Amino acid sequence: MTRLTNKRLIITGAGSGIGRATAQLAASEGASVVAVDLSDAVTDTVQSITAAGGKAVAVVGDAATEEGAANYVAACIDAFGGIDGVYANAGIGGGGKPVLELDVADWERTLRVNTIGPFLAVKHVAPLLIKQGGGAILMTASVAGLRANAGGSDYSASKAGVISLAQTVAYQLYDTGVRINAVCPGLIETGMTQPIFDRARSRGTQDRIGRINPTARNGEPAEIAQMACFLLSDAASYVNGQAIPVDGGLSASHPWVYPQ
Ligand SMILES: NC(=O)c1ccc[n+]([C@@H]2O[C@H](COP(=O)([O-])OP(=O)(O)OC[C@H]3O[C@@H](n4cnc5c(N)ncnc54)[C@H](O)[C@@H]3O)[C@@H](O)[C@H]2O)c1
Repeated sequence: MTRLTNKRLIITGAGSGIGRATAQLAASEGASVVAVDLSDAVTDTVQSITAAGGKAVAVVGDAATEEGAANYVAACIDAFGGIDGVYANAGIGGGGKPVLELDVADWERTLRVNTIGPFLAVKHVAPLLIKQGGGAILMTASVAGLRANAGGSDYSASKAGVISLAQTVAYQLYDTGVRINAVCPGLIETGMTQPIFDRARSRGTQDRIGRINPTARNGEPAEIAQMACFLLSDAASYVNGQAIPVDGGLSASHPWVYPQ
């Protein structure tokens, strides 16, 4: 038995970065995975899982629409006969515009994917989990949802909304056996942050990335996947309503000046 043996999990944003790494780790730990993404790169994720002997199916679709959420639920029931957990991880960076340059369309786009997407995962998956007496819901928030300076105002507010969803939904699902949590990654090298890394490499400043946290480096998708798989597993049976930073210690500090 491994940590996720017999768990049937839906993971959104599984075509890249944190979602792909979590799908691969979850499958290697025994889960059957429905890997969801807007991009058909999600089929590469599924191929890598099945090539390694794991179980996964791909769903190409928008996780931030009612139809997209209904589709991934149906796909999981179809392929694996039920659902034990969902990881609403799909997200967008929002572009990082200064607040005075943001317009309503920018806000609507960022909130739709980053906050309404996780809400739809709750809405479409929780009733099934309640019916079977338990399950796990996980969402990707961010250190940007905890404090300033890790993204634009729209992005940060969208992630603060995810943290609030973890807190409020945990109580809405009182005594149902369903747990809900959020993970708050720090700076992780993924598709979303690739421009930051590419820019630093082209300037020769890549060894400065992540130096403001006490682990003194950026994180890797696999390091978020470890926390995600724990929170999706029964090993986390008493963790509920939490937003857990996985950020090398960044959010542990007051403002701090890096010693030159
Ligand atoms: N990379 C970081 O430093 C970092 C830090 C904190 C939080 N996060 C969060 O982690 C999550 C995963 O991002 P990542 O860093 O792996 O980036 P990524 O760009 O590598 O992966 C995100 C994936 O989500 C998919 N996606 C976007 N909108 C979607 C939608 N509506 N429906 C289905 N799929 C959709 C994209 O196609 C992409 O494959 C996001 O919620 C992001 O906000 C990332």
